[in-house]
Amino acid sequence: MTLETANILEGGKALSVQWKNGQTARFHAMWLRDNALDSETRAAGNGQRMITILDIPAETTLKSAKVNDGGDLVLSFIPENKEVIFPSNWLSDHSYDNANEKTKGWIGDRKKTWDSALNTSIPTIDYAQAQRKDQEFGSWLSAVESHGFAVMTGLPTTSGTLIEVAELFGHVRETNYGKFFEVRSEINPVNLAYTGLGLQAHTDNPYRDPVPTLQLLACLENSADGGDSIVVDGFKAAEILREESPESFDLLAGYPVRFEYAGTDGVKLRAKRPTIELGPDGEILSIRFNNRSSAPFTDIPFDEMDRFYSAYRKYAEIIERPEMMVSFMMQPGDLFIVDNTRVMHARKGFSGAGTRWLQGCYADKDGLLSTLSYIESLQNLTREAAQ
Ligand code: FE2
Repeated sequence: MTLETANILEGGKALSVQWKNGQTARFHAMWLRDNALDSETRAAGNGQRMITILDIPAETTLKSAKVNDGGDLVLSFIPENKEVIFPSNWLSDHSYDNANEKTKGWIGDRKKTWDSALNTSIPTIDYAQAQRKDQEFGSWLSAVESHGFAVMTGLPTTSGTLIEVAELFGHVRETNYGKFFEVRSEINPVNLAYTGLGLQAHTDNPYRDPVPTLQLLACLENSADGGDSIVVDGFKAAEILREESPESFDLLAGYPVRFEYAGTDGVKLRAKRPTIELGPDGEILSIRFNNRSSAPFTDIPFDEMDRFYSAYRKYAEIIERPEMMVSFMMQPGDLFIVDNTRVMHARKGFSGAGTRWLQGCYADKDGLLSTLSYIESLQNLTREAAQ
């Protein structure tokens, strides 16, 4: 998409451009100078910026702006007398002149919220397929990004295989529970997860800062009665809360709660975060919800505590609605992964008869998203080469 015109505004402090398709956008001189793509501003190899804001004169303005024969933008900045070219597509991709105000609690467009309807189309890949790290694996990683939940089947039922799964896209986050941890019935458990009791839907380790952003759970044995795994989209639940009770949404986003874990010797973890965490532009960033690890809430004013508890209850009730739950029985060789900043997991109670042996580990989303981005860029190259 090539440019048609470029016009300087505000005595050179900004400019407006129009593309041939009629789309328009304004840019500031300072923003353009800071984002110049020339080799003195950006390293040719890794694209890293080699100047700081202090290297740009505060009085920077545009001396001239024109569209060249290729439809790209040619700018000249003063007082540096520096000429820079911006490709028209780059400008279109990085336009920030958007009038539309975002609603508080908006969700990024690479994320898709879901409910129990996902039961019939759970994103799933076979381990052998995943190991090829091809397009299929890219789609599976993409599902983890968009849905915060996916399943892998066909894993060897040998201890620690889940580490190899994490290493397909990133690195394990080691914690005081080790590189990975066992989830099976125990006498005198150090954590309620290690009994046959049902577990309310929760995000894991909310008492850590930073919280592990991915959790993997692999099944090695399962002959116990019950113990279905359940996942719930915490972002979907937050959307519903906002629709049904905006005041409750504001309370859960507006006040921090506290989490604590001190179940083993030498460990005393604490964190303070809101149940629904919003970014400064109102985007939902994360959910932390875990009854077992909640510490007393001491950051909510006395006059708000009643309303806060009512909001907290409403959110918990939404999470418990059957239409919110995706439910599945893990078979030996199955693994599921959740975005631990968004998707809650739960377990129905199971009986003492039979055995149930799961292993869990943590990893982080940045590694997964980086691998996804890399696979997508390879796919784009292949697609372009085929054209
Ligand atoms: Fe858990």
